[in-house]
Amino acid sequence: MNEDTEILYHTGELDARLRHEAEVAEAVAPDRHISARFGETLLQLTDVTMRFGGLTALDRVSFGIRRGEILGLIGPNGAGKTTCFNAMSGVYRPTSGQVLLEGKPLGKSSRHGITQLGIARTFQNIRLFGEMTALENVVVGADARAKTSVLGALLRLPRHHREEQEAVDRAMALLEFVGIADRAADKAKNLPYGYQRRLEIARALATEPKLLCLDEPAAGFNPAEKEELMQLIRKIRADGYTVLLIEHDMKLVMGVTDRIVVLEFGKKIAEGLPAEIRENPAVIAAYLGVPDDDVA
Ligand SMILES: Nc1ncnc2c1ncn2[C@@H]1O[C@H](COP(=O)(O)OP(=O)(O)OP(=O)(O)O)[C@@H](O)[C@H]1O
Ligand SMILES: [Mg+2]
Repeated sequence: MNEDTEILYHTGELDARLRHEAEVAEAVAPDRHISARFGETLLQLTDVTMRFGGLTALDRVSFGIRRGEILGLIGPNGAGKTTCFNAMSGVYRPTSGQVLLEGKPLGKSSRHGITQLGIARTFQNIRLFGEMTALENVVVGADARAKTSVLGALLRLPRHHREEQEAVDRAMALLEFVGIADRAADKAKNLPYGYQRRLEIARALATEPKLLCLDEPAAGFNPAEKEELMQLIRKIRADGYTVLLIEHDMKLVMGVTDRIVVLEFGKKIAEGLPAEIRENPAVIAAYLGVPDDDVA
């Protein structure tokens, strides 16, 4: 809960709904040990190059993500946005360059290792365990950080029992936080598309990340759903998270981000405040040919 909320909370001025939200938020993020202070660089990419055979998907890309901000990562199709996530989350090891989290190189950390270090992501194409319930998907997500295994919990070994209950409670709080608790017991594959996107976010949050990376979370959404998603992203940030957002919809990006980095053909072509990016000639040129309703 942020300071403002806390003050209201203690003076009893918070209405029931807000108090409930604050309690949910607190359950979602009990404690995070992040050495970067708010506004300081949390993650830094330095001269990151990623080659696939003859193709240079990222060409000496450098930018920082500050703790507490929502940073937009935009660019036309094939610009290298997802590759950037992959290079930051251990899916690929950069051909050259460095990714530093709180000043420490990710180096050769595995995907699992990077989750434990505190970077979580969602995928452009939804990746859920379709046969598991929404709740189970989140419990499994949390297990990427937990000391004991899901297997241990499933076998109901006594020492796992308390942890198991805590994991379930926390997963439930996360489902409530993203607004899909009413379908907790449904198989992921039976959830409406918008719920699946939110479930992915809940699962990523379950790892208590220092940095949450969202790869086109609003893809396929109608305007009303996009507006709701923007509200969720703001709520996530208000809860103290740092967010990196890949998104094609300019209205959404401009409306929710604090700063924006623009890629084109694997190179960073601009970085700045949304208002600056909107006016930037190189960015406008990069988006020429994109239908008006995407640029609006
Ligand atoms: N594993 C891979 N092997 C070969 N080429 C790849 C691989 N991953 C990405 N690429 C190429 O790298 C370039 C950047 O792809 P990337 O998926 O990062 O773009 P993007 O900005 O996320 O695009 P989109 O908006 O369409 O999602 C593309 O030319 C893509 O074909
Ligand atoms: Mg992509």
